[in-house]
Amino acid sequence: MDKKQIAKAFGKKATLYDTHARVQKYVGDRLLSLLKEQQVSVPGPLLDLGTGSGYFLPALKQFQGGDALYAADLSEGMIRFVNEHYQNVLSSSFVADAEQLPLADNSLSYIFSSMAIQWCEDYKRLFKELVRVVKPGGFVAFSTLLPNTLFELKDAWHEVDERNHVNRFLDSDSIIHAMSVHAEIQSAHAERVVAGYPDLKSLLHSIKGIGANTVVEGSGAMTKGQYVKLVRAYESFRDSSGMLPASYDVFYGVMQVPQE
Ligand SMILES: C[S@@+](CC[C@H](N)C(=O)[O-])C[C@H]1O[C@@H](n2cnc3c(N)ncnc32)[C@H](O)[C@@H]1O
Repeated sequence: MDKKQIAKAFGKKATLYDTHARVQKYVGDRLLSLLKEQQVSVPGPLLDLGTGSGYFLPALKQFQGGDALYAADLSEGMIRFVNEHYQNVLSSSFVADAEQLPLADNSLSYIFSSMAIQWCEDYKRLFKELVRVVKPGGFVAFSTLLPNTLFELKDAWHEVDERNHVNRFLDSDSIIHAMSVHAEIQSAHAERVVAGYPDLKSLLHSIKGIGANTVVEGSGAMTKGQYVKLVRAYESFRDSSGMLPASYDVFYGVMQVPQE
């Protein structure tokens, strides 16, 4: 994945993000509950990695109390937005790639990262980096997407052309394996989260509204003929409540950095 393109796509939508991020808010709340269940043995700084619009920063500050709270994101636009809206709770914020953090070894007690690492290709390398910056006994809590995410859209596109229009994501066995290489697994489970939309236009609008067009390639450049075919194909998924579903297969993981 082209990370510059990802950062640009999210940055452009910073001000609209909160309006469209229904699924992301639900998932982040679940992840925060999982983090709260962990036994805190090393209080200290927390990093919200891939913070996006910073929606979870006030809740993370409340969870953490008096210690430092940092926010990092690949997108300059998101960090600018966060600085404008969350100065009161933030200790500092910075533009950074999760795979190469500008932080010293053992400098954090927690990393919270919701729906942000799915564009990283090598989870083993990523987790090694996250574990490097967390103190022994500290936690990394993350959520990410699994391969069947947006399967309805994938299937509908198959009726239109042969191209792959939705990103490929790593499967849960591979994620669990990557976690186990570097840390102790405290929690690892998957959940299907389904959002309903009245029509395809609003479904695609919502995905683009959070700047995640990099999840769904090519949908912006479709011809009228393709769009009509796609609408027809997606109709086969309309559910009993009359809505078009968009399924997100979410993986939640919590790792603890081994005590020395
Ligand atoms: C779907 S948003 C999630 C934002 C927020 N965590 C939430 O749950 O509302 C994904 C965010 O992750 C950021 N991101 C993507 N890849 C990243 C990477 N390699 N390192 C840091 N941030 C990244 C994007 O720029 C975007 O702001």
